[in-house]
Amino acid sequence: MINIEKNYSINARRMKKSAIRQLLKLASKPEIISFAGGLPAPEAFPVEEIADIASDVIKRDGKKALQYGATEGYSPLVEELIKWEKETNDIDIKPENLIITTASQQALDLIGKIFIDPSDPVIVERPTYLGGLSAFNQYGAKFIGIPMEKGNSGIDMDYLEQELERLKKSQEHYKFVYVVPDFQNPTGLTIPTEKREKLIELSEKYEFLLIEDSPYRELRYEGTTPELMYKMDNTGNVLSVHTFSKIFAPGMRIGWVVGNEKIIDKLNTAKQAADLCTSTFTQAVTAEFMKRGLLQKNIDKVKKIYKRKKDLMIEGFKQYLPQREDITWTEPDGGLFLWLTLPKYINTDKMFDEALKENIAYIVGSAFDCYGESLNTMRINFSYPSEDDIVEGVKRLANLIKKNIKD
Ligand SMILES: Cc1ncc(COP(=O)(O)O)c(C=O)c1O
Repeated sequence: MINIEKNYSINARRMKKSAIRQLLKLASKPEIISFAGGLPAPEAFPVEEIADIASDVIKRDGKKALQYGATEGYSPLVEELIKWEKETNDIDIKPENLIITTASQQALDLIGKIFIDPSDPVIVERPTYLGGLSAFNQYGAKFIGIPMEKGNSGIDMDYLEQELERLKKSQEHYKFVYVVPDFQNPTGLTIPTEKREKLIELSEKYEFLLIEDSPYRELRYEGTTPELMYKMDNTGNVLSVHTFSKIFAPGMRIGWVVGNEKIIDKLNTAKQAADLCTSTFTQAVTAEFMKRGLLQKNIDKVKKIYKRKKDLMIEGFKQYLPQREDITWTEPDGGLFLWLTLPKYINTDKMFDEALKENIAYIVGSAFDCYGESLNTMRINFSYPSEDDIVEGVKRLANLIKKNIKD
């Protein structure tokens, strides 16, 4: 074979195999209890309903549902989503403000494609969603990480403002600020209303586009939901990324982006070259699922399952983990994850092999850090393991941590 390496593009050379995929492979043995993946609970999928609807869609609309569709999305689903956004987020949008994507990962890729030139600064939370880092990294983004404030309120706004001022003075043109505001992957933290208002204010003052990526927003188990930043803003500076993956089924591969029509139009052009259109068939099934009023019912069912699992996990942490000031965890009001911080000298990357020997798996915190730091942290998923596995897994995790504590 020819030396194929020489033929790869600069973008391809920049791509890194996800370390997480490798870890997940290792963690997939049956004897291992995995808190590692970010998968929805399989028992939460509405399998029977989807079987009925898929059959009805094919019988009734098969010729349309099996055909190519419009790049911007299958119009019955676009209509359902416009209604959904009004009912759930109280926003009024027109079809020009929305594009359906092949789940939200494609939206992040297209955002990278239309905004990032090599070495462009992109501002992200530390830690942030690993798939966001991978999507922007392939276009050569230079990340500027903003740490989380101590406590549970997410991104440190003073740090962000100082950084924006510094960039302005040095005339560095950063492309956007990317945040996961609701039950963040990986920390489970939610950005409160005052910080959202401040982010909007800063986006006007420093003229940046704000990307809010929000797959977990509807999965709230306690408390009240702050407004979507797209709703709070009236300048067109916010692009809001959503998905059916966690509220319906990730196998459908459907997401959507809401934003200013100019940006939506550019995303549409980029998507034409990427995949022409998202699967018409899964869009037709999803539109029918919504039309029959099943989406909210499904969300209510999923929330019950996940709330129980989250409460069990936190009870287990309180009961079994060493109770010390240097061992802390987030207690999210929703979503799929919590974030565990251990004493500074414990390196969760190094501890991972030992964890596998104890038949327990997590994702190392450094994977979510744009600088590869945060070595004493880990992400814990509570949606996928069964309730029994949560209880047993926490015991194993606690033993592992106790073995690694020096004092
Ligand atoms: C913050 C965030 N954004 C985007 C995605 C991608 O999800 P999907 O492509 O299934 O919509 C995920 C998946 O876990 C996520 O956590």
